[in-house]
Amino acid sequence: MKYKNLKLEMHGPVAMVYVDRPKKLNALNRVTIEALHEAFAALDADPGVRAIILRGSGPKAFVAGADIAEFAGFSPGEGQQLAARGQELLFNFVEQLSTPVIAAINGYALGGGLELAMACHIRVASHNARLGLPEVSLGLIPGYGGTQRLPQLIGKGRAMELIFTAGMIEAEKAQDYGLVNHVTALEDLEEYCLKLGGRIAKNAPTAISNAIKAVNAGFRSSDTGYQAEIEQFGHCFGTEDFREGTQAFLEKRKPEFPGR
Ligand code: CAA
Repeated sequence: MKYKNLKLEMHGPVAMVYVDRPKKLNALNRVTIEALHEAFAALDADPGVRAIILRGSGPKAFVAGADIAEFAGFSPGEGQQLAARGQELLFNFVEQLSTPVIAAINGYALGGGLELAMACHIRVASHNARLGLPEVSLGLIPGYGGTQRLPQLIGKGRAMELIFTAGMIEAEKAQDYGLVNHVTALEDLEEYCLKLGGRIAKNAPTAISNAIKAVNAGFRSSDTGYQAEIEQFGHCFGTEDFREGTQAFLEKRKPEFPGR
């Protein structure tokens, strides 16, 4: 099967999915999010697929975020819709898949890219990976679950610092924080993830899918957090800070935020 902006490979029972827009650092536009939804749904429905690895094409980026050019002109309502639809089609969908998904973070995982990695069940990074939620540098907040999943993984204080500073952390620090489980050389990343996927593939798929449901249940007690994120994300689209932040990115200059 062919999917727009994706490449798929099978390695025995382990599927490898590449987000394939390397010229835009694999940024997630609408078409790519829809393609990922369809590809994950098809792989999950195939009993021969026991684990899925997700990575970005090229050596530079896993995914550099949601596609800023696509949403720069959105209204608050359109912004809210973008977050709600993305969460439903991709981020919550991947988290709740029956088949385990390993994010192979082969470079930048920023904004929606880190949010996608955090929606996967396991994360492995290469040494060159840089991880962060830089949305506030654009006048935005994370809108694909980042305000909920980052504190779950690394704790509230570290998550707030990373979100407020719009900073990036290196792979080793991400491992120290518990944001990624393992760090490898870039050239070893796929092999490492394939071995990990192979070990998972030997175990009972029904039990693994039940384990995913059970682990997730403990973290979904506050569904209102995701809804609050969607609403606050939408609010950002009505601000001068958002207009300045996104224009500055597209014009390749530093933003000057007017603020409240
Ligand atoms: N959206 C759209 N285009 C992007 C992009 C993104 N998130 N990230 C990179 N690109 C594009 C660049 O515009 C550039 O395109 P052109 O060659 O056509 O100009 C191309 O990818 C290569 O990028 P750079 O030239 O910027 O590469 P660099 O090596 O100088 O910098 C980078 C790399 C630091 C990752 C930089 O690209 C960057 O800061 N990207 C944006 C990161 C970001 O802010 N992500 C959050 C997006 S908002 C979001 O995700 C919202 C949400 O939660 C829902």
